Amino acid sequence: MGMLEGQVAIVTGAGGAIGAATAQMLAREGAAVLCADRNPGTAARTADAILSSGARALSVKADITEEPEVAAMVAAALEAFGRIDVLVNNAGGSSGRDVDIAGMDAGVWDRTMALNGRGTMLCCKHVLPQMLSQASGAIVNISSGAATAGQLSMPAYAASKSAVLALTRAIATLHGREGVRCNAITPGLILHENLAPHYPEEHVRIDAQNILSPRPGTVEDIANAVLFLASSMSAFVNGHVLPVDGGLFAHTPTYAQTLELGLDSLRLRR
Ligand SMILES: NC(=O)c1ccc[n+]([C@@H]2O[C@H](COP(=O)([O-])OP(=O)(O)OC[C@H]3O[C@@H](n4cnc5c(N)ncnc54)[C@H](O)[C@@H]3O)[C@@H](O)[C@H]2O)c1
Repeated sequence: MGMLEGQVAIVTGAGGAIGAATAQMLAREGAAVLCADRNPGTAARTADAILSSGARALSVKADITEEPEVAAMVAAALEAFGRIDVLVNNAGGSSGRDVDIAGMDAGVWDRTMALNGRGTMLCCKHVLPQMLSQASGAIVNISSGAATAGQLSMPAYAASKSAVLALTRAIATLHGREGVRCNAITPGLILHENLAPHYPEEHVRIDAQNILSPRPGTVEDIANAVLFLASSMSAFVNGHVLPVDGGLFAHTPTYAQTLELGLDSLRLRR
């Protein structure tokens, strides 16, 4: 028996790297999965992979910034599978023009907020009535480590992913007593095939120096955490944020420089 046997999940951004791995993980654990993406081709590719493994899946084109498309996505899940137990709000992203505040193009800010903040809210808005009518459901929001601390780039992305954390706590607080759980994940750097070509090599090295894990993060690391928060294994976890970042935020900011100096440098000179 899988951990989600007989359940139904919606995964947004299911055509992307983390979304595809997550959709396939939930399907392996027994869920029927509605794979949604604004790119219908990649959503269909993920659904096909699930179908060929013998599990149930359907793909739809859904741009989460367009409310009618979100409503249609939820209707498609209900028509195909009859209920919704899990919503994974994974669709999201950032703009290459999201550099700093003094030079911020307000349109870039608005589009980033519309995607990560408003889009995530819309998916919750349209799934919640079904979960409330079932008196059960688990929502897992993919935020980002960028929402956790100040960084030297992507301020609009960071603010929009912080909105996702506030939304997570609001939904848990509003609907926890009605059987709905809502938790978030803050991934660290997950360098997959879609991101690697755009990510500067020297920053990959800096990330490796600053995580506690001896290896980089993978899409399966995020999918595993989603599975935990989606399943009854986390039945008493609500309104929380799970960092899946190799320990990036678990140590003092001087960690990497101290390691470089050598541990002997830490001995107090008496
Ligand atoms: N990869 C990382 O290092 C990392 C770190 C922290 C957070 N995240 C978050 O993880 C999530 C998945 O990202 P990924 O790394 O797999 O990137 P990705 O680009 O591979 O996947 C993102 C997917 O979302 C889809 N999408 C984008 N806008 C959409 C919209 N308006 N409506 C519907 N679908 C839309 C894209 O088509 C794509 O398939 C994102 O929310 C991202 O912000 C990623």
